[in-house]
Amino acid sequence: MSEAVFSTVKSSQVILKELMVPSYANFGGKVHGGIILSLMDKIAYTCAASHAKGYCVTASVDSVDFLNPVEVGELLTLYASVNYVGKSSMEVGIKVVSEDFKLGIVKHTNTSYFTMVALDEKTRKPSAVPGLVLEDEQEIRRFVMGKLRKKLRRAHQQEVADLRQSLSLDQEMAELEGENCRLAL
Ligand SMILES: CC(C)(COP(=O)(O)OP(=O)(O)OC[C@H]1O[C@@H](n2cnc3c(N)ncnc32)[C@H](O)[C@@H]1OP(=O)(O)O)[C@@H](O)C(=O)NCCC(=O)NCCS
Repeated sequence: MSEAVFSTVKSSQVILKELMVPSYANFGGKVHGGIILSLMDKIAYTCAASHAKGYCVTASVDSVDFLNPVEVGELLTLYASVNYVGKSSMEVGIKVVSEDFKLGIVKHTNTSYFTMVALDEKTRKPSAVPGLVLEDEQEIRRFVMGKLRKKLRRAHQQEVADLRQSLSLDQEMAELEGENCRLAL
């Protein structure tokens, strides 16, 4: 991209609605978590590809905490918005709510952040994405939070890598007492 290009947050926002049909149920009769994760990945791609105007991949997914179960027959609505963009990466914020038509109850199911990276179609290497035009205080807040989360993700990745490097199995084995495991060496 030779000249700086910017797009508004609104231009790539996506809403996806899907009825929770019986084939989505798990053995307990509730909607399978994997169905919801798959829909989240789908909307993250749609939103990111729309901002990047090209092919993207999912680089990482922040933790997903299911706050409420989703029942068969409910309408699931997913809202996605690009919160933050770096050079080639985009943080897409996704909010999921489920709605019971009959009772008129709307539940917040979960919120998560997907990092999507734009790739050049030919080289398959990360490619630059447009910047974001921030039009109100909420968009500025989301951008700043996205920037901070990117920093935290990197620090966490580094911390895990350092832990793996410095792991002393003998020392950790001595501290397994009280854990729910039994050594059978
Ligand atoms: C994501 C991927 C393209 C990154 O490639 P890479 O060579 O590490 O790229 P870089 O180090 O140049 O990083 C490119 C961008 O991705 C971001 N990134 C890379 N790995 C990341 C991760 N694990 N989590 C979050 N962001 C990540 C970097 O911060 C950077 O962002 P910026 O350009 O906005 O500063 C590469 O790891 C990949 O192809 N992964 C597989 C993706 C995939 O197949 N997903 C579907 C799973 S089925």
